[in-house]
Amino acid sequence: MITRALGSAGPRVAALGLGCMGMSDFYGPADEAKSIATIHAALDAGVTLLDTGDYYGMGHNELLLREALRGRDRGGVVLSVKFGLLRAPDGAIVGIDGRPAAVKSSLAYTLRRLGTDHVDIYRLGRVDPAVPIEETVGAIAEMVQAGYVRHVGLSEAGAGTVRRAHAVHPVADLQIEYSLLSRGIEAEILPACRELGVGVTAYGVLSRGLLSGHWSADRAVADGDFRKTAPRFTGENLDRNLALVDALRAVADAKGATVAQVAIGWVLSRGEDIVPLVGARRRDRLAEALGALRLELTAEDLAAIERAVPAGAAAGDRYHAPQIATLDSERGGVATR
Ligand SMILES: NC(=O)c1ccc[n+]([C@@H]2O[C@H](COP(=O)([O-])OP(=O)(O)OC[C@H]3O[C@@H](n4cnc5c(N)ncnc54)[C@H](OP(=O)(O)O)[C@@H]3O)[C@@H](O)[C@H]2O)c1
Repeated sequence: MITRALGSAGPRVAALGLGCMGMSDFYGPADEAKSIATIHAALDAGVTLLDTGDYYGMGHNELLLREALRGRDRGGVVLSVKFGLLRAPDGAIVGIDGRPAAVKSSLAYTLRRLGTDHVDIYRLGRVDPAVPIEETVGAIAEMVQAGYVRHVGLSEAGAGTVRRAHAVHPVADLQIEYSLLSRGIEAEILPACRELGVGVTAYGVLSRGLLSGHWSADRAVADGDFRKTAPRFTGENLDRNLALVDALRAVADAKGATVAQVAIGWVLSRGEDIVPLVGARRRDRLAEALGALRLELTAEDLAAIERAVPAGAAAGDRYHAPQIATLDSERGGVATR
């Protein structure tokens, strides 16, 4: 398995991580047995980075991981956990809590649910505009000192916030959306991470399935699935985005690869400091994603990919407007106190 370092302060991990969110939340019903089999297949293939959040299925995702990791070598797994998104019983997201007390309390529950004595990378899921990032990161740093956390991470933070956080404690990685369809980090955030030696774990590399080659306009999408109403998945935007996928398919066909492999391969090609997370929930999807690690993209291939899906070509925003408003990364990382 090819490995990459997560920033100068972070752990070395397999070059592809597994994101477990869709196994519990946001993408419609998931099958627990298939999810656990997918996690096992990932570990068996040499994947080391597993990403979760305490709010994914309100604890469900962590309990699922605990089950999947039973009897496995904990030391060989890098568990990345997000916290701080507040949920109501109906699943609605009702706030963000980055207060130091919330850091410690959330971590206590996470450790119990995961059945482990430490989290490898701990990060606030969304920057809390009411709490200076120094306070949130300072509390995670205390948990590092106490041995409950190994590394500090960030999620959807803008360049200014990354700098402020990194000044308090070295940040291993910033987790943020990055794909052929979402290239917003290239202007400021990625250069800032590179300057500081902060790694990037890229999520949504398949644009939540849109860029996988397996999505179609007539796909049935369950109520409650984020993609049922997401801007890029609806109306005319969907048709325009699927036309981009068709163009990418031509490049993939010429390489004897799949659309998903080319989309993941493109993210891998953007730098040794980037580790894509894939949201596979089934073993066949995982196997397809792992195939991207064997794909060699030449300069000509990369140019063909850029022609098929030029920067800024995506139709529609990556989130609904109220969600975009919660993203520090979309505010330049300067709106926090
Ligand atoms: N920090 C943040 O704010 C944030 C936000 C979102 C996600 N994340 C993390 O990033 C992870 C990945 O995000 P994501 O799930 O949106 O990413 P993704 O990999 O872009 O999309 C996953 C979706 O793509 C579909 N898919 C089709 N072919 C696939 C293939 N070969 N391999 C993998 N998936 C394939 C899967 O659908 P089917 O299984 O239904 O086919 C799945 O629903 C999440 O699990 C989570 O851990 C973080």
